[in-house]
Amino acid sequence: MLRSRILSTGMYVPTKRVTNEDLSKIMDTSDEWIRQRTGIEQRFWVDGGEATSDLALKASELAIQRAGVEKSQIEMIILATLSPDHEFPGTACFLQKKLGIPGIPSLDVRQQCTGFIYSLSIADQFIRNGAYKNILVVGAEVHSKGLEMSDHGRDVTVLFGDGAGAVVLGAVDVKDPEKESHILSTHLHADGTFAEELWTPAPGTGNSEFRVGAKELEEGLHWPKMNGKTVFMHAVKRMPEALEEGLKANQLCVSDIDLFVFHQANLRINDMIAKQFEIPEHKVFNTIQKYANTTAATIPIGLDEAVRAGKLKKGMLVASAAFGSGFTWGSAIYRF
Ligand code: UT7
Repeated sequence: MLRSRILSTGMYVPTKRVTNEDLSKIMDTSDEWIRQRTGIEQRFWVDGGEATSDLALKASELAIQRAGVEKSQIEMIILATLSPDHEFPGTACFLQKKLGIPGIPSLDVRQQCTGFIYSLSIADQFIRNGAYKNILVVGAEVHSKGLEMSDHGRDVTVLFGDGAGAVVLGAVDVKDPEKESHILSTHLHADGTFAEELWTPAPGTGNSEFRVGAKELEEGLHWPKMNGKTVFMHAVKRMPEALEEGLKANQLCVSDIDLFVFHQANLRINDMIAKQFEIPEHKVFNTIQKYANTTAATIPIGLDEAVRAGKLKKGMLVASAAFGSGFTWGSAIYRF
C-alpha cells in the first residue's frame, strides 16, 4: 500500500542564547518564575537579520541532504509558521526561492502550534493519493521580532523561542505495516470559538479602517495576546483527547508507543499528559528547557534532537500531539 514515510529530519536555531536571567534584566520577571511555571531555562533568538525563511532554509537543507534526495526531487513544499517573513506572499515561497527549486507548489499553513501536525497530514494525503513522491515539510518561527519586550508583555514574551525543524516525507510501498516505517494516521481539530484567546490582532482587516494604523499601534494590537489560564485548561484536555483518538484509530495502547514527541508549550502540560497516560518519563522527549516554545517548529525540532540524542531510531513507533492558537489541536501516529 502507498504510504508516506519520514525519510529524514533537520533543525536549526539561531546562535543568540537568551537565558531567563537575561530577560529579567529587560522586564519584571525571574528565572525562578519562568522555570517553575513553564520549565523553560533558555531560548535562542535571531540577532538582527535572519527571517523565518532563513531558519527554514537551514533546517530544510539538512533534512534534504539526510534524506538522500536531490533538491530537484522535492515535489512540494509545505511550511507552517505564525511569524511569516512578510504578510504576503507566503513564507514557503521565500523558502522555495532560497532553495532554488521553482515551479513546484509551495504552501503556507497557518495553524500555529498545531501547524506541523496539519502540514504533516496534508503532505501525507498528497503522498497517499499518489500525487507526489517527496514533500518537504517545515515548521519555522522567528518570534523574537514580534514580542513585546516590556513588563506589559512578559506573560507571553518569556515563553517563545526562534527555530526551525524540517522533515522530508517520501512515498513508500508498505508491505508489512507492523514493521515498516510510515505515517499510520493523523487527526486534526479546530474550534474558532476561542480564536481570540491567543492571537495577534494587527495587522488585519478585522481591525478598524487600516490593517495597521496609528490606532492599532497605539493600542498595541500588533503584540501577541494570550489568556494563559484558558489556553492551559484547554491544552490539557485537547492534547490527551487527540492522543487517545490516534491510539484508538490504530488499535494501539500507550505501552505500544516507543516515544512521545509532543508540542512544547509548557513542561507542566506535558508532565500532566504523561501522568494521565502513565507514560514513563524516558518515553517523553521534551526540548522546551533549551528552546522554549518554537510553535510550529517544536515537533520537528524534537524529532531531530531525539535522533541525534540516540533516543529515536528507525522503526520506533512515535506519537505526537499539539495544541495551540485557533484553538487548533491534533495528533499523528507514525513508525519512524
Ligand atoms: O503553544 C501555545 C499554547 N500556549 C500555551 O499552551 C500556554 C498555556 N498557558 C501557560 O502555560 C500558563 O498559563 C503560563 C505559563 C502562561 C502562565 O502561568 P500561570 O500559572 O497561568 O500564571 P498566571 O498567568 O496566572 O500569572 C500568575 C502571576 C500573575 O501575577 P498576579 O496576578 O498573581 O500578581 C502574573 O502577572 O504571575 C505574573 N506573571 C509573571 N511573573 C513573572 C505573568 N507573567 C510573568 C512573568 N514573570 N513572565
